[in-house]
Amino acid sequence: MSKLKVIVSRAWPKEVQATLREKYDVTLNEKDVAMTKDEMKEALANCDAFLPTVTDPVDAEVLSAEPLRAKFIGNFGVGFNHIDLDAAKARGLTVTNTPEVLTDCTADIAMTLMLTVARRTSEGERELRSKSWTGWRPTHLLATKVTGKTLGLIGMGRIAQAMAQRAHHGFGMKIIYSDPYPPPAEVIKKYNAKQVDSIDEVLTQSDFVSIHCPGGKDTYHLLNKDSLAKMKSSAFLINSARGDVIDNDALINALKNGVIAGAGLDVFEGEPALDERFLELENAVLLPHLGSATTETRIAMGNRVLENLAAFEAGETPRDKLV
Ligand code: DGY
Repeated sequence: MSKLKVIVSRAWPKEVQATLREKYDVTLNEKDVAMTKDEMKEALANCDAFLPTVTDPVDAEVLSAEPLRAKFIGNFGVGFNHIDLDAAKARGLTVTNTPEVLTDCTADIAMTLMLTVARRTSEGERELRSKSWTGWRPTHLLATKVTGKTLGLIGMGRIAQAMAQRAHHGFGMKIIYSDPYPPPAEVIKKYNAKQVDSIDEVLTQSDFVSIHCPGGKDTYHLLNKDSLAKMKSSAFLINSARGDVIDNDALINALKNGVIAGAGLDVFEGEPALDERFLELENAVLLPHLGSATTETRIAMGNRVLENLAAFEAGETPRDKLV
């Protein structure tokens, strides 16, 4: 049997690339330069399986490729707001993602952001590196205590639950959340979490608000001028989900004018372009989309794509089939 022709959009961990080479007639992207939309279109016309990642906009235009050879799109990543699933389905494509394997590491980054922004540790490190530290003193870089505070989760899926686990059991935090599709009561019981009636209640009651909803048109600018104004002025906003859930202008103004105390951000509207106004803000902690960036997790994500592709090739339903 001839091998499937597979095209991969970015460089993957070498262990997984080795498996791809072994099993498939694969074109890798070892230079790791992002593909243009035209290149992705061409890929869909010339391979059986295309393996993009979360920064590749596989939109209706890309999916209009003619002639279309591809039958399978295996996304390297859990989020899929960059793929037009309706268009993919209309063209008869099977699309999969990589849930579960990145849950812990993404929750770890959300916790990192929460602790870093609350305890002002980036500011402290900047002070040391600029050689301006003059020594311990009772009023130096006073920050905000995390232990025992209220953490509000927008979305209560896998990553939010992993954050609740860490925050409740590690830091004695009270957990509240809002989610239109809440998990079963026995899951919630583990974190002694309380569902509130609306996102507004999460915003008004929390000392820390962490975003864990998907990106896309339903959540676009969910956090805007009006919603940010509902948060306590002492509260912090954490985003490890998708950048466009927050309106950049509104957040920058809120951080500048003391509407909220600070923000920890791993994702940005329009990334990788960064609104340079963020760089002026001492109360913003900024990371370049590192949620799942551990060797273990990135290998697991690659292997999960391979597992889905193998199932598809065998004529089975891949476990992470989206459409
Ligand atoms: C995802 O998988 O959706 C993350 O944003 C990157 O790991």
